[in-house]
Amino acid sequence: MNVLDFQRMRDQKKKISMVTCYDYWTARIVAESDVDCVLVGDSVAMVMHGYPTTVNATIPMMEMHTAAVARGAGKKFIIADLPFLANRKSLDVAMDAVQTLVQAGAHAIKLEGVTGHEDIIKHIVDSGIPVMGHIGLTLQFVHQLGGFKVQGRDDAGAQRLLEQAKTLEELGCFAIVLECMPPAVAQQITESLHIPTIGIGAGEKTSGQVLVLQDLLGGNKHMSLKFLKTYGHAHDDFLKALNQYNEEVKQVKFPDETHYY
Ligand code: KIV
Repeated sequence: MNVLDFQRMRDQKKKISMVTCYDYWTARIVAESDVDCVLVGDSVAMVMHGYPTTVNATIPMMEMHTAAVARGAGKKFIIADLPFLANRKSLDVAMDAVQTLVQAGAHAIKLEGVTGHEDIIKHIVDSGIPVMGHIGLTLQFVHQLGGFKVQGRDDAGAQRLLEQAKTLEELGCFAIVLECMPPAVAQQITESLHIPTIGIGAGEKTSGQVLVLQDLLGGNKHMSLKFLKTYGHAHDDFLKALNQYNEEVKQVKFPDETHYY
């Protein structure tokens, strides 16, 4: 897949699947899968580093994880997140961050919001770097949004999201993530745009879907997000394997003669 395939798939009404990925080991498995593309999301700060929100993601953190994913992801198209404030300080800071992430292996970058950094988005696009927009529940704005809340519930909020999406399209974004908004709002945005939308917690009428890998694998036992569907039992499988290993070590069942040199 390359950046042109996003538009082709949207035009042919083929759904786009995207999954987050933060490390070499899982990137190698994703590379073997049929999933279309990979997001090195700033959610890495929460999922892999244990921070409460994504505001703790930094450029060096994103660079390290992007490079690790790029080493394992084979031919998958890789999108990396510009972390907190990287696109808000100055054009130079933003472009240095973009350069860092693209040289680490990203084929495109994603950034949150639009108002106040339109010129930066346009400059990145005009520099030949594909940009994916992201609106709705944008966690880099968590303190302003008042927490993890569904966006666009009232008419004014829905209208704001539609306007943001149209602006991102005009600025040259090749796709937009729509996060946590009523399905009708996501549908209206999707039908109003020419570029594809990728939804998370936004219903099925978007051009594609994205989920956090560890969430979809069932890696977070106590997570209950309404929009989340789990396709595996990673938490339980890991725990079972670890406890079985422990048990066999204690009972001197492992290693046995099949595991000696
Ligand atoms: O960082 C991330 O994982 C994301 C997805 C939720 C879209 O931005």
